Amino acid sequence: MSEAETEASIASRLAELTAHADLFQEVLANLPVILFRLDRAGVFTLSIGAGLARLGMRDGQAVGTSAFDMLPEARAELQAALDGGTIVFETTRRVSAGAQAGMRFRYLVYAAFDASHGEGLVAFAIDLTQGMKAEDSLQRSEAEFRSLVDHSPDIVLRIDRAGTILFVNRSEANSPIGAIKDRSVLDFVLEKDLPRLRDAVRRAFKESLASQLECDARGLDQVVRPFDVRISPIPLPTGPEAAIVVATDMSERKRLADQEARLQAQIQQSQKLESLGLLAGGVAHDFNNLLMGVLGNASLVLMHMGPSSPHYEHLKGIEASARRAAELCQQMLAYSGKGRFVVQPIDVSEVVLGTVRLLEASIPKHVTLKLDCVPSDRAVEADTVQLRQIVMNLVLNAADAIGERRGMITIRTGALHCDADYLGSTFFDDKLEPGHYAFIEISDNGCGMDKATRAQMFDPFFSTKSHGRGLGLAAVLGIVRGHRGAIKVYSEVAAGTSLKVILPVSSLPAQRFEHTPVSLRSPLQGRVLIIDDEPMILGIAREILEHAGFEVITANDGEEGLTKFRDNPDTRLVLLDLTMPRMSGDEVFRELRKLRPSVRVLLSSGYNEQDTTSRFAGKGLAGFIQKPYGAEQLVEAVRSVLKRGEPGAS
Ligand SMILES: Nc1ncnc2c1ncn2[C@@H]1O[C@H](COP(=O)(O)OP(=O)(O)OP(=O)(O)O)[C@@H](O)[C@H]1O
Ligand SMILES: [Mg+2]
Repeated sequence: MSEAETEASIASRLAELTAHADLFQEVLANLPVILFRLDRAGVFTLSIGAGLARLGMRDGQAVGTSAFDMLPEARAELQAALDGGTIVFETTRRVSAGAQAGMRFRYLVYAAFDASHGEGLVAFAIDLTQGMKAEDSLQRSEAEFRSLVDHSPDIVLRIDRAGTILFVNRSEANSPIGAIKDRSVLDFVLEKDLPRLRDAVRRAFKESLASQLECDARGLDQVVRPFDVRISPIPLPTGPEAAIVVATDMSERKRLADQEARLQAQIQQSQKLESLGLLAGGVAHDFNNLLMGVLGNASLVLMHMGPSSPHYEHLKGIEASARRAAELCQQMLAYSGKGRFVVQPIDVSEVVLGTVRLLEASIPKHVTLKLDCVPSDRAVEADTVQLRQIVMNLVLNAADAIGERRGMITIRTGALHCDADYLGSTFFDDKLEPGHYAFIEISDNGCGMDKATRAQMFDPFFSTKSHGRGLGLAAVLGIVRGHRGAIKVYSEVAAGTSLKVILPVSSLPAQRFEHTPVSLRSPLQGRVLIIDDEPMILGIAREILEHAGFEVITANDGEEGLTKFRDNPDTRLVLLDLTMPRMSGDEVFRELRKLRPSVRVLLSSGYNEQDTTSRFAGKGLAGFIQKPYGAEQLVEAVRSVLKRGEPGAS
């Protein structure tokens, strides 16, 4: 090669190299990278690249300084690279503030030993800060969205066209339906709702239509919950590939709605009872008075006439009808919630045992009556006559339900603690307080009731019997309400019926019925004082008792009664009306007791609007007779009061 040729070759080679160097320079000047070289001690021998500007440096500025000082965050890795170890690594600038804070670089070390320039390394540092920031904000916004979805009270799912769950919000631990990813939504829905759900999924994918439906789903905890489910396709230009399902647990909302409906029904029921009760009470009041006239006068005529008279049987007929009408009034009175005349702390077992003796006659022989009633000191504050009425009505219904077949009626009494849930499940709980209750339960294995009958059984005049008046259970309900109790009903067709009447337990001990020894025949003679504001009743009662052999004095109000009682210290018995204007029966009773503690008072009452309950707790009342009454009943009541040993010295 000639010198000229050599020179030309060198020149062209030089030009080539210069072009390369320029290109290299240009690339470096424009890429956000830094190219650097370190000697064995870690001192920069080269630093170049547009990336330097981001560190606030110029090309070559670092030359002569130690990389270990300048890049303390990369010290360990640089040392390792110089030792021939690490080739690629990333570090974040440990500068707490300013433009360089949090900058991140990736180092690519090309040669741990550079033979041409002595030991050292050549490396690229690539600035990743921008990308990292973008990634950070992406992560942050994803976390935000996830937390939004995860904290939604609803269950949010993404499903594919087969119904497979691709995504579910909430961690398993919080999800009421547990680990469900990769399973099918169709797995959780009850059989009955499956076709509708399948249809909704199909609609979302095939027709791109959203649907909403209610369905019951069983979670992995095996609990079935009602859900409101909305399915919407996720639109894509190519057609939906996935759908979003939002399911809202409706259990709580349903529970509240049920509660509301039950409350509403109870309010309606109590309004109905209120107004019908008012009507029934009003009718009973007027009829009781009229019947007292019919029954009283009929029995007076009968008394004087004797069985030989041709009209004797007709009058007997009048008396019998009037008595049945009086029973009807008694049921209506009970239904009205009034008619609690003599309230005493009494033991329900004792009432039941006393009533059953009366009932045995009216229960057919093929029906067995089983009693599980142990007398106790536990008392309820109640009107004995009304509790008897409950037992009578329920036992007669039980006997009717058994009909012509053989059967058994069981009467059980006892105590139980009722919580709010239990009270809520009873018929007409009327916001009763949880606590201790006494119960009377009457069960039969008769025909039982279907749902429709159960719904109406307490309605006045509802009866499924040809001769039923439909007042029995209405009266029971009225009495129970009047006593602040409730009724629990179990009844199944063909299986039988059980009615449990619960009444709040009193803090007072049960008052025992007096079992004073019966005196030798107590003659029906001596002085009786009748106190009543109704002249007709005074007249009838006077005539009946005089006819029976008594000497009778009367008073038409409390004050006069007390005066007459004072003036006649030999009075054997006082027949006292409970409801009188001015001074009421119980006031008069208290005054009489003051005048003579051993006074024997036979209380009588019908019904009157002002009538409220009266307490005679342990006050030594001798007896009670309900108006209307006939001659036989009055004489019998007086006789039984006098039969008990004459108290005191009188
Ligand atoms: N123990 C029971 N077994 C089956 N059905 C019953 C029972 N108790 C009540 N019922 C049903 O409830 C209805 C209403 O009872 P309720 O005592 O109020 O009226 P009644 O017995 O038909 O007539 P009343 O008692 O006035 O003579 C009855 O007709 C009957 O259908
Ligand atoms: Mg009945």
